[in-house]
Amino acid sequence: MNRTQQNRWLLDAALFAGFLACFFLDWTGVAWHQWIGMLGGVLAAVHLATHWQWVKAVTERLRGSTSTRARLYYAIDALILVGFVFMLFTGLVISTWLNLSLVGYPAWRSVHVISSVATLLLVTIKIGLHARWILAAGRKPLANAGLPVGQASPASERRAFLRLMGVVSAASIFALGSSLPSLWESTQADQVQPSDREAVNSSTVSSSASSTTSTTSCSVRCGKRCAYPGHCGRYTDHNDNGRCDLGECQG
Ligand code: HEM
Repeated sequence: MNRTQQNRWLLDAALFAGFLACFFLDWTGVAWHQWIGMLGGVLAAVHLATHWQWVKAVTERLRGSTSTRARLYYAIDALILVGFVFMLFTGLVISTWLNLSLVGYPAWRSVHVISSVATLLLVTIKIGLHARWILAAGRKPLANAGLPVGQASPASERRAFLRLMGVVSAASIFALGSSLPSLWESTQADQVQPSDREAVNSSTVSSSASSTTSTTSCSVRCGKRCAYPGHCGRYTDHNDNGRCDLGECQG
């Protein structure tokens, strides 16, 4: 494999690593999460640009004769593109950068997480479909990093494929395991009783312990995740009403 292919491999590896890192909000904190997510968006755009000739060629052939394989790849790539657009857009909407006063914060957050999870599943499938190229182009960078790459024989290629898919699937399952509980929380928060919501919408939340202040919503975000009702290190519930004190409406 030539240098261009190796550079593409390194770019894709960085993109996948950054994408996975976004699922570990407890470790990165919100600020890093936002920057890593944006960087992921930039790397995804570069990835698309480097394959633009292929995209153009298949788009032109879509109505005519092109292989089922190319159509499948195209459909998966298109869905991943839609997933990235959703993730980045909803991420910005709920971000501490814009700090918008959102009545439906939990719903926006749920869409953000659901699009991330769906895209992760599609990316895992895409890696499986491109495993042959990934293993061939990755030999040199992996060997340079001192990792064992073995001999290029049919038997070892099968083993390498299974190893690659094992590592990628395990990482994806680990990432899902880290984010799904918080998705459950967002959906629960979305089902706040109408009377509660009225109280929520007519008030202002302000807490010296939280890093952001939000109006018309009881969502409070601290340095590490603390969305309503929250389960970050700052979660307290002194009046036993099942809500984080940081997210209580005042006034
Ligand atoms: C590769 C792109 C991204 C992926 C895969 C991703 C994934 C996720 C996931 C899985 C969560 C829930 C994590 C958890 O609670 O354990 C989350 C939350 C969040 N994301 Fe992203 N995200 C991405 C990009 C972004 C961007 C670009 C922004 C903003 C600029 C952003 C802002 C947020 C915010 C504010 C939260 C909620 C934090 C909280 O609960 O307080 N994300 N994201």
